[in-house]
Amino acid sequence: MPSSPVGDHPPLPSPLVLLRLPSDFRFERVAVDTVTSLARQLRFPHEKVEILRTAVGEAYLNAIEHGNRRDAASEVEISFVVEDGQLTVLVRDGGHGFDLQRLPSPCLEEKLAGHSPARGWGLFLMRALVDDLRVDHSATGGNRLIIVVRRQAGEGAMGGAPPARPGLP
Ligand SMILES: Nc1ncnc2c1ncn2[C@@H]1O[C@H](COP(=O)(O)OP(=O)(O)OP(=O)(O)O)[C@@H](O)[C@H]1O
Ligand SMILES: [Mg+2]
Repeated sequence: MPSSPVGDHPPLPSPLVLLRLPSDFRFERVAVDTVTSLARQLRFPHEKVEILRTAVGEAYLNAIEHGNRRDAASEVEISFVVEDGQLTVLVRDGGHGFDLQRLPSPCLEEKLAGHSPARGWGLFLMRALVDDLRVDHSATGGNRLIIVVRRQAGEGAMGGAPPARPGLP
């Protein structure tokens, strides 16, 4: 990879990086380190790198636990696509997926008071931090969480809602 992949350089391949990891929590570090290195290479500011680290870590853990149900033989595929100053991370597992719109929002007061389960924060956090978050499942291909983080406000997808993305891998 060139030392400065943004700017006047030729277009980057898509997906730029493709990771195939086992369903093993010990590999979370590999997923998080990969997105960190990639985002730094793409000159994402520090706070955006931190957002990507949190989102990719959470998404990978969810893919293992809820998607692949901790079946070590099932893979999680993480692909990284770069275009127009935004990084899209696609986290694919072999599960049946879920409806992002129907997840309950956790209540901080209830949790602090111990009246509700301590879990259920991963996607809530992710939704608050990233620029776009979607789920897409196919009958054959399992479930895919799509995370979009823009390098700067106004970059990528012309600063508005992301377009339909038939080109995604
Ligand atoms: N890849 C996935 N496949 C299927 N269901 C999922 C997936 N990711 C999330 N879910 C569903 O969404 C719910 C909320 O996920 P979220 O990450 O917010 O909480 P959690 O994993 O249960 O707890 P934690 O706070 O430890 O992350 C999960 O309990 C699960 O039902
Ligand atoms: Mg989770």
